[in-house]
Amino acid sequence: MSQMQGEIISAGAPSSNLGNYEEAYANFNWEDVEKQFSWYETGKVNMAYEAIDRHVDEGRGDRIALRFNDPTREETYTFKDLKEKSNQFANVLRSQGISKGDRVFVFMPRSPELYVSILGILKVGAVVGPLFEAFMETAVKDRLEDSGAVALVTTTTLLPRVKRDELPLLHHIFLVGKDIEPEAGIIDYFKEMEHASSDAEIEWVNREDGLILHYTSGSTGKPKGVYHVHNAMLQHYYTGKVVLDLKEGDVYWCTADPGWVTGTSYGIFAPWLHGATNVVRGGRFSPGDWYDTIQKNKVTVWYSAPTAFRMFMGAGEDIVKQYDLSTLRHILSVGEPLNPEVVRWGYKVYGHRIHDTWWMTETGGQLICNYPSMPIKPGSMGKPVPGIQAAIIDDNGKELPPNRMGNLAVRTPWPSMMRLIWNNAPKYEEYFRIPGWYISGDTAYMDEDGYFWFQGRIDDVINSSGERIGPFEVESKLVEHPAVAEAGVIGKPDPTRGEIIKAFISLREGFEPSEELKAEISRFVKEGLSAHAAPREIEFKDKLPKTRSGKIMRRVLKAWELNLPAGDLSTIED
Ligand code: PRX
Repeated sequence: MSQMQGEIISAGAPSSNLGNYEEAYANFNWEDVEKQFSWYETGKVNMAYEAIDRHVDEGRGDRIALRFNDPTREETYTFKDLKEKSNQFANVLRSQGISKGDRVFVFMPRSPELYVSILGILKVGAVVGPLFEAFMETAVKDRLEDSGAVALVTTTTLLPRVKRDELPLLHHIFLVGKDIEPEAGIIDYFKEMEHASSDAEIEWVNREDGLILHYTSGSTGKPKGVYHVHNAMLQHYYTGKVVLDLKEGDVYWCTADPGWVTGTSYGIFAPWLHGATNVVRGGRFSPGDWYDTIQKNKVTVWYSAPTAFRMFMGAGEDIVKQYDLSTLRHILSVGEPLNPEVVRWGYKVYGHRIHDTWWMTETGGQLICNYPSMPIKPGSMGKPVPGIQAAIIDDNGKELPPNRMGNLAVRTPWPSMMRLIWNNAPKYEEYFRIPGWYISGDTAYMDEDGYFWFQGRIDDVINSSGERIGPFEVESKLVEHPAVAEAGVIGKPDPTRGEIIKAFISLREGFEPSEELKAEISRFVKEGLSAHAAPREIEFKDKLPKTRSGKIMRRVLKAWELNLPAGDLSTIED
């Protein structure tokens, strides 16, 4: 288990914001972080104020807040620009009666309008619900329905995926696009923005009031709404300082989409709380375009994901040399296990260590990380962020000694911990079933030096290219296909994507297995749910292994796939 533990890459930047890790950990207290916010004095809380308007009020309004690039647009916005635009959108929302506590969703590709919308929603005290642009009808409907969303900001291109007739609570759609026909419930985004005042009163909220609702997947049931509150800004600010190591003048690029938690906590909140220039790039992954984004924007701090780094490694060293990446000073990764060879490759080719960080949608912010001032053990997620107590515990809550694998758990609470699973108290309570602890669902061990090493998931959640996919949601879609009788879905190990989705399917009477049918079924999921949830591999079986109560045993499917013993089969049907 620990043969890799000996390898160390020494500290990259001893003079980073964190300084000596052990000292920072020992001397930490959250009140020192609270003092960084204007509400510590004024009592007036709002994430959008702290992230944007405050910089204007304190004389930093002319700094660049957003550099947006995609194949069709290149635009920059100062903090003052974003303050004014988000004020306008807050006024547009108010004109439709949207107010504190309402759930307002955003469903669009990355664009300046997306970021302005999110900030405007926060300014009226409403709760933001981000939807990934690749979601199709069912995925969109499930989330809007569960949350009771009253409004949605979307584009003319994506609007057909919104089943308005099945969403009676969804009264307002703010539509971003051209030539919008007047229609009940449809509000022309650009037209309204044109008339809206750029002055707006901010809705001051409580630290425990709702900020954002991120839907994510578990192994059972539909996606669950993970609810975060404004207080999360303490975690965002502090980790922005000591993990992202943000300093004045930094140009920061987080490659994640705001449809996922990395794209909000670290694609919006953390960088802007620090007044950094935030680079946003739309469009798909391509090594050349991504290196060009670093070169063109003079990126200094870069936060990405293992799948991307593996693809860069696959693209080779030569392409790196075609770009000037000399502005980079700090690189980070999140979302899935970061292979030691990728860390070594990055160190050799970029001349920088890649700093792995561990956290989840539910944790709202980074919890276990590598810091510029701390030695890296390639393959390890690092050590707990100051203020966070992490441990490996057994199923009874007993802390295990070093090098023993068990549940990766975190002492409750911390500022950015989720406060609810929307409409589902039992699901929420499952995470806290051992008093005093949050149970992550990941297994790991801690070595003698206090470094944590990821081992796996205890449930059936799939992690493909860092995107979290619930097998149940995919299976539910699969069985809607007329040829599919039953379906079981697992994550199959994959060298680039970490895992890919593999579906085992038994067919209905009258359907014959064929390659065309596989392609058709996969397309059905892609078009109904989302591209990243579509199985890349399908295998037809006469029968699927089930418990006597009729539940498909994914563990047996996985054992088939990996040629492993299937384990205890005492509950199998026959
Ligand atoms: O299994 C862990 C994996 O991603 C899960 C959380 O996924 P999600 O909520 O989508 O959030 C992803 C980004 C915050 C975790 O339970 N995971 C996340 N980071 C790492 C990781 N696995 C290994 N190493 C990591 N650094």
